[in-house]
Amino acid sequence: MTRIPISGPSITQKEVDYVTDAVRNAWYENAGMYYDRFEKAFAAYVGMHYAVTLPSCTSGIHLSLAALGIGAGDEVIVPDVTWIASAAPVSYVGAIPVFADIDPETWCISADSLQSCITRRTKAIIPVDLYGSIPEMDVIREIAEEHGLAVIEDAAEAIGSEYHGKRAGSFGDTGTFSFHGSKTLTTGEGGMLVTDDEAILNRVLVLRDHGREPGDTMFFNREIGFKYKMSSMQAALGLAQLERIDELIARKRWIFQRYREELGETSGITLNAEPPGIRNTYWMVTVILDPKYGIRKEDLIKHLRTCNIDSRPFFHPLSSIPAYAGLEQALDARKRNVVSYRISPYGVNLPSGLNLTEEQIVYVCDCVKSHLH
Ligand SMILES: Cc1ncc(COP(=O)(O)O)c(C=O)c1O
Repeated sequence: MTRIPISGPSITQKEVDYVTDAVRNAWYENAGMYYDRFEKAFAAYVGMHYAVTLPSCTSGIHLSLAALGIGAGDEVIVPDVTWIASAAPVSYVGAIPVFADIDPETWCISADSLQSCITRRTKAIIPVDLYGSIPEMDVIREIAEEHGLAVIEDAAEAIGSEYHGKRAGSFGDTGTFSFHGSKTLTTGEGGMLVTDDEAILNRVLVLRDHGREPGDTMFFNREIGFKYKMSSMQAALGLAQLERIDELIARKRWIFQRYREELGETSGITLNAEPPGIRNTYWMVTVILDPKYGIRKEDLIKHLRTCNIDSRPFFHPLSSIPAYAGLEQALDARKRNVVSYRISPYGVNLPSGLNLTEEQIVYVCDCVKSHLH
């Protein structure tokens, strides 16, 4: 049996055709044709006015912070459990990340913990739509308004997820997406920033092009900026994927449904949640094992490897990893964030690639169950 990968895209002739067309034609006067179409269609899909293609979601978070004027001495609250890309850009701009605990059901930032992390120096919150789930956005937005905080929604993993009918990425001053090869919609590497705020859009457009005003043909840089752009071949791939987004999400939801049928009745296994009012697009099917089994995530990952199955650890609390060892805030978070530290050691992401077959899902579930018993 060939190895079952953790994730991967669905690529059809449509993607091949669009990219081929971009390679042939998206030059000279047509250089922008795929960016325009992809950005407009993406903004409409998410329900925001503007979208900007980028090389990654990390760059989207960096640009958001920079465009909002966040810098040295400011504090930005991020969930303790997320990929480091949610938090690293806070350090890029010289600000300090403060790690809030997660909610035991959605695994996203806990609104209560977030509230307790606010200080005079807090300038922004980066809620993360973890594995396709969405945190309590109504409460988070209320807290942000009350304290005058900016919200940067990290929707890297959640394209198409919904919270009370509104799509992931549409809850903040900016929303950011990843199109890395593991994501539901991929451009190989890539990302998008969305916003409703024209002033933020204009700031982002200058900052992402070495401090050049859009349309500046004199190459007259007004400030030191960054170079954060996507290629038109990637934009063509993204557009083709976006035109298939309902199909891609339906497949993700089918994959989760099949896992739930196989594992849902097993005692001591918790799967991704979909609380009332939320539509989860299940980027990564995830199991949390009851500690009663005495099986930590490393053990299950090792076992699955012997079955020729790739899996991944539930993100480690950022406050626990060497990258933040020197940060005073991390020490506080280690004491405070009991849910993060309770769940993370027992969580494993299972294969969730778009080409996963029913037979493979059943095999993965059998391997998980056999390890438990
Ligand atoms: C929650 C989260 N935020 C941000 C990112 C960063 O995305 P990118 O790799 O496109 O920079 C990822 C990527 O995996 C992610 O999972």
